[in-house]
Amino acid sequence: MKNLGILLSGRGSNFVAIADSIAAGRLSNARIAVVISNRDEAPGLETARRRGLNALAISSKGKPREEHDRKVVAALQQNQVDLVCLAGYMRLLSPWFVQQFPSRILNIHPSLLPAFPGLEAQQQAFAYGVKVTGCTVHFVDEELDHGAIIVQKTVPVLDSDDEHTLAERILEQEHVAYTEAIRIVLEGNFEIKGRRIVRGQRSEVRLQK
Ligand code: GAR
Repeated sequence: MKNLGILLSGRGSNFVAIADSIAAGRLSNARIAVVISNRDEAPGLETARRRGLNALAISSKGKPREEHDRKVVAALQQNQVDLVCLAGYMRLLSPWFVQQFPSRILNIHPSLLPAFPGLEAQQQAFAYGVKVTGCTVHFVDEELDHGAIIVQKTVPVLDSDDEHTLAERILEQEHVAYTEAIRIVLEGNFEIKGRRIVRGQRSEVRLQK
């Protein structure tokens, strides 16, 4: 059994999708060991508590990045987390944090990276006028929205779309993509070749500590 640690800052719909996948047996070898938010008032924390999960607020307000990250990493380690899943965690990780979990942190981003990194990716894509966008689940490295890509899903931009309808359809795909990516990583049946995740080969990434 592998322990997931979920980090979120807001609504938490990606967290719920992961929890639902576990409950439905789509991620049979995973459990959520802890849910952590950097914002005390994140609705996702309340949802986690209602589901009986271990949910912690570790406020980042006014704290230097690494000082906050040390508290978060300590909580992840206390809960013996094998894989960290950023699920709408709107805070950059310090290089130190990333080094504590090499190739063991995933992030979901609402665009087809490397297009539209950063904030409000759906709005950026809509305003740019692309005809296809989507979402990306990738390993986290020390650069923003940058690590090796595990899963991408495409979403067409319709003439009838506005920013909100587009974001909603991207979100549906995010929920599918995250489970798929976690399954790939936990199965370990892949290799990291430079930036490329190539499946069907045993992983060098050892999730076991
Ligand atoms: C999601 O759309 C996620 O891709 C995005 O925040 C939203 C969180 O929603 N993340 C980023 O933009 C990270 N750069 P959720 O709280 O309902 O999962």
